[in-house]
Amino acid sequence: MRAPVILIGAAMVVVAAAGCSTATTAPEVSSPVARGRAYYTTCQGCHGNAGEGFAGMKAPRLAGLPADYVAEQLLLYRKDLRGGPADFQGVQMNGRAKALPDEQAAHDVAAYIATLPAPPPVSDAAAKGGAGAALYESCAACHGGRGEGNAELGAPPLAGTDADYLARQLRNFKKGIRGREGDEKGQQMAAAAAVLPDEAAIDAVAAHASALR
Ligand code: HEC
Ligand code: HEC
Repeated sequence: MRAPVILIGAAMVVVAAAGCSTATTAPEVSSPVARGRAYYTTCQGCHGNAGEGFAGMKAPRLAGLPADYVAEQLLLYRKDLRGGPADFQGVQMNGRAKALPDEQAAHDVAAYIATLPAPPPVSDAAAKGGAGAALYESCAACHGGRGEGNAELGAPPLAGTDADYLARQLRNFKKGIRGREGDEKGQQMAAAAAVLPDEAAIDAVAAHASALR
């Protein structure tokens, strides 16, 4: 007869603790990650349930991206500093980012995305090396030797991200479609993209960066 008494006692302690915490702190449902998970239901049709990306929608992988970077991109889309009519794929994101109720929601959904485990990269490791490797030397200072990114510099990870998406971003940076006045980090990247001599160089460095591990 002792065990049930102890169990009931333990249960009462748990109930008492739970009652105590709801009285003093916000319930779990209003934590940033929990709110972000709810907002993410509006994203998963394109970016995938686990943020793995969906090439058919040209929507890149989000899992593995740091929260700060994701939040910043959402705010750029909200302010029309990224996307817009000249950006054929990116323009889809302006409405989505503006549909989030406020800036806090952008931070919340970014916090949720940062909890998604980065899936194994899908790109072809054979694309690594060659001309792309030589070109990538100028990128490593910011994006890291293994394409792991550098949070301090705001340079996102590139390893494992769809090569077509990376190449499209490089073209956007070169053309000034991304990295506009008011987007300081994007402008740094635009300067880095400007040194890529031609289309073949863009494709080669994108393939190499995507295949990094
Ligand atoms: C209709 C499809 C669609 C929906 C829905 C959508 N996205 Fe996107 N998203 C895209 C596409 C396409 C791109 C790539 C744009 C480009 O190529 O420049 C993108 C790009 C992004 C990027 C930039 C990634 C990077 O590496 O810079 C982020 C961040 C993002 N989306 C987050 C979200 C979030 C959060 C939501 C939900 C609130 C969402 N998206 C909803 C299609 C979508
Ligand atoms: C001076 C530092 C720096 C250098 C050098 C640099 N980058 Fe970047 N890169 C950045 C920053 C910062 C961002 C984020 C820009 C933003 O917030 O919009 C970025 C963003 C990117 C993106 C967009 C990623 C995404 O998820 O949308 C790509 C692609 C990229 N860089 C590729 C390269 C390549 C390839 C090179 C070499 C040719 C390179 N970068 C060199 C700093 C750098």
